Amino acid sequence: MSTVQWTENGTTHSARWHSENGTPPPRRIVVADDRLTAAAALRFARAGTGMLWRGDFPNARQLVRAMDRRLPQRPGSFAEVRSARAERATLLGKVLVSVEADHSLQLRRAPDIRAACEHAFGGLPGTLLSLRELLGALSAYQWHQKGIYLQALNARIYPSYSVFAPTRSEYLELVAQEPLPGNGSPTAFDLGTGTGVLAAILARRGAAEVLATDLNPRAVQCARDNLRQLGLSGRVQVLETDLWPSARRADLVVCNPPWLPGKPASALELGIYDASSAMLNRFLDGLPGHLTPHGEGWLILSDLAEHLGLRTRAELLDRISAAGLQVAGRRETMPRHRRATDSGDPLHAARSRERTTLWRLTRSRA
Ligand SMILES: C[S@@+](CC[C@H](N)C(=O)[O-])C[C@H]1O[C@@H](n2cnc3c(N)ncnc32)[C@H](O)[C@@H]1O
Repeated sequence: MSTVQWTENGTTHSARWHSENGTPPPRRIVVADDRLTAAAALRFARAGTGMLWRGDFPNARQLVRAMDRRLPQRPGSFAEVRSARAERATLLGKVLVSVEADHSLQLRRAPDIRAACEHAFGGLPGTLLSLRELLGALSAYQWHQKGIYLQALNARIYPSYSVFAPTRSEYLELVAQEPLPGNGSPTAFDLGTGTGVLAAILARRGAAEVLATDLNPRAVQCARDNLRQLGLSGRVQVLETDLWPSARRADLVVCNPPWLPGKPASALELGIYDASSAMLNRFLDGLPGHLTPHGEGWLILSDLAEHLGLRTRAELLDRISAAGLQVAGRRETMPRHRRATDSGDPLHAARSRERTTLWRLTRSRA
């Protein structure tokens, strides 16, 4: 963890610097309060200057929203939209807050952040961080406490900070409805388990034993907590592992990899971007060697990457056959989340055509 220095009332101060994705601290920091306008804040941000907020807490949130509104959102290629989004995050991330040694924010009308900081970061005493990052932790903590009710489970799942949350229900229904292979109580793997939701659906449907893996340690903890709370710990084991659990085989291997090829910039983005489609390809390549003779692999994949020009359907099908697999069936559904119909989204043209598919894969007979 690096440290950061600034001058306030003629005195030099220093604190620890926190950035979840490793963004370095601003080179220069000025002290700011309620008098700062969004236009002036954007000028500071564009010059790489951090603004340490000493005003009213809700006003700081308003300031960031006002800065955001001043930044245009233009449709473009996926790479352009992603790079504009990263630039926007850099600018908005220049509004900073200081967490005191006692975990308080010494700001008017500030919320109690202790539990959220403990949940997200294991505590942050005496630290400077961007307000946006803190707001992300506060919002994640609310989701964590409230949970998300899932029809496919008839129960709530409690996501954690930086863990992929199943806010889209369409792919869960695909997994909940597809007939299970074999005798109806298969052994199963869930690769990239996130909150543990797919492992839980399989266990609830009668899978005899599920091995779930994830690379993100927070996801592993989150999945274990969810499975315990659902009373399924006895049948689901969660391992912190890079994709495949062991040399063992299973009757069913489920994998919902990140749907977009691209480099993840944070632990949360491990659930959204798959660098060079490595997770998808390693799932396909490893599948024949991990299936029992009549076993099935269920690949959950949206075709958004195809509509964005990041992958073609032919490439996916070629990859499936090159791995020694065949498509035994597929079930497709339309996403119903809010962004699918948001015409203001810069990726609207692609999102409006998106379909999510459960690909049922078996070993080639050849
Ligand atoms: C799209 S999310 C799916 C999460 C969950 N299965 C669901 O359906 O909601 C993909 C998950 O894969 C995990 N992941 C990414 N790369 C991985 C790897 N090499 N090994 C294991 N898990 C990985 C991410 O941390 C993330 O939790």
